[in-house]
Amino acid sequence: MTIKQDLRHFTDISALSPGVLRSILDDARARKNRLKAGNIEKPFAGKVLAMIFDKPSTRTRVSFDVGMRQLGGETIMLTGSEMQLGRSETIADTAKVLSRYVDIIMMRTTTHDRLIEMAENATVPVINALTDDTHPCQIMADIMTFEEHRGPVKGKTFAWTGDGNNVLHSLVEAAARFDFNLNIATPEGSEPESKYLAWARSAGGNVKLTTDPIAAVEGVDCIVTDTWVSMGQEGRARGHNVFMPYQVNDALIRHAHPDALFMHCLPAHRGEEVTDSVIDGPHSVVFDEAENRLHAQKAILAWCLEGGRPSV
Ligand code: CP
Ligand code: NVA
Repeated sequence: MTIKQDLRHFTDISALSPGVLRSILDDARARKNRLKAGNIEKPFAGKVLAMIFDKPSTRTRVSFDVGMRQLGGETIMLTGSEMQLGRSETIADTAKVLSRYVDIIMMRTTTHDRLIEMAENATVPVINALTDDTHPCQIMADIMTFEEHRGPVKGKTFAWTGDGNNVLHSLVEAAARFDFNLNIATPEGSEPESKYLAWARSAGGNVKLTTDPIAAVEGVDCIVTDTWVSMGQEGRARGHNVFMPYQVNDALIRHAHPDALFMHCLPAHRGEEVTDSVIDGPHSVVFDEAENRLHAQKAILAWCLEGGRPSV
């Protein structure tokens, strides 16, 4: 079975065209401006978002919940372990049942296959709220944040240092879709999955891989990092001494452009992938990123639910 073409799922950045992604970000900015101006808009009164979490969450859970409420809709918070999913009901059957009740489904889960199986079997849109493989909502908020601070991302250079994880995979896809350069520094054995690099390069992305964090951040416009141990990967965690050279600290950030931004999806592990001095310092925009999850996801919900209706 394949994903139904008439439904607007938000599964991955690579699944959407540059034009659609840009229209979502334009809508996100417009919605944010109108919210700050005090405008109340409730286009989704009567609509219900089901939120399924197979992993913990603070930002994703609250920003989707608040976003849907601001749009006039309602939410149902579900955890996989409390559903029949946790007693081996299939994702396909769950997708078909939920589609009879709710208007849209958001899922944070383990393997990417589970997310795709949900999208293939649902008859309502499905949004990826993080899988082991990707985190596209986060990266939409990050691109929005960069552009708020520094203007168009096209032609800029980002660096990632640390573990090659799900957030990085979506950043790799974004580099191709939004046309910015990306330097990645990871320890050997922690590189991003080659299929993401191959896709980005085939889509015209300029993505470089190194083991040298200083070379990766030299002169860049933005440094991004994330935890060294993603959720569900605790058993595969590598020693801190492997990752310590990739820590974003004052010495490393000095190699970036003086106006470089520092980004982190949060939660941060202070003293590990980033020092207090950087995350609380002048380069950091981590709380803007967190706020923009709300605005970006409202635009994603709108694109899924109403075909990205122009927001003016
Ligand atoms: N950045 C992010 O997705 O945070 P949560 O895990 O708190 O949702
Ligand atoms: N890479 C992290 C992101 C958390 C938002 C994880 O998957 O745990």
